[in-house]
Amino acid sequence: MKKPIRKAIFPVGGLGTRFLPATKAMPKEMLPVVDKPLIQYALEEARAAGVEEFIFVTGRGKSAIEDHFDNSTELEQTLESRGKYELLDLMRSSMLEPGQVAYTRQQEPLGLGHAVWCARHLVGDEPFAVLLADDLVMAEEPCLAQMVEVYNEVGGNVVAVMDVPRDQTHRYGILDVIHDDGRIAEAQGLVEKPDPADAPSTLSIIGRYVLQPEVFRELDRQERGAGDEIQLTDAMSRTIGEVPFNGLRFEGTRFDCGSKEGFLEANVAFALQRPDLGADMAEIIERYAGLISRETRRVSSS
Ligand code: UTP
Repeated sequence: MKKPIRKAIFPVGGLGTRFLPATKAMPKEMLPVVDKPLIQYALEEARAAGVEEFIFVTGRGKSAIEDHFDNSTELEQTLESRGKYELLDLMRSSMLEPGQVAYTRQQEPLGLGHAVWCARHLVGDEPFAVLLADDLVMAEEPCLAQMVEVYNEVGGNVVAVMDVPRDQTHRYGILDVIHDDGRIAEAQGLVEKPDPADAPSTLSIIGRYVLQPEVFRELDRQERGAGDEIQLTDAMSRTIGEVPFNGLRFEGTRFDCGSKEGFLEANVAFALQRPDLGADMAEIIERYAGLISRETRRVSSS
């Protein structure tokens, strides 16, 4: 029996520069997809995978995240007095029990590896999950739950992976694959953001990790990697040989909500899935599709 994954780290210390000015005073992780902030999707995914302790690594200007998961007595009383019980339940579902949540601070955004390292004392000597809220996964079985199932079989480190076009490898951590059964790929090494010509494969890590605590020992070295940042990929890579490393081709669709295109697409995809909004959204898309084709005709005929 493998040690259970009880704790999850949510690194939310990044600057979110790609969403300025929206992210000047508001954390990127609070951007809503339809009507729910990205960070709440991530938290619900962790909860569905059995996580009981939620550790947020925050930074400057991120206090809205703490408020979001806290009681809001005034708002609750108002909803109750107006008989808005459904909304009240919805609000309460995002709250965390006392002692279930911890916040620590990354004083400087020195990279994802550094953010994870900042939570080392809160995790201690046990396996844990890391979820990046800006990678949103739409799946029948939530992505982290799929990974925990695989972890329970094979142990070690398990990350979520997907195949990307070769010209995009410079945006991801890439697996150097030693064995691949089409669903689970075992790595003998990892490279962060390689040029397409140097990439050992096109199998890319997305923002979901199940990690063994050995990674903290490597992060202790505080070595800088690609982009002069302390990279989680480098620390994970150095534990290969000691800790097995497997990538799971998860079932589902991943939206890169750290980019504008990915974020907009996620809004469309999630709205289409909603019973209360799907039909309206489909009509909106049709209307705009009509406009686009007229516009295209205009361009091509001029
Ligand atoms: P990104 O690479 O998307 O960086 O981080 P960013 O700063 O958030 O956004 P841009 O590129 O400026 O628009 C990926 C994830 O790692 C976290 C981010 O919060 C995000 O969830 N992160 C990154 C940290 O927590 N600390 C860091 O030092 C860097």
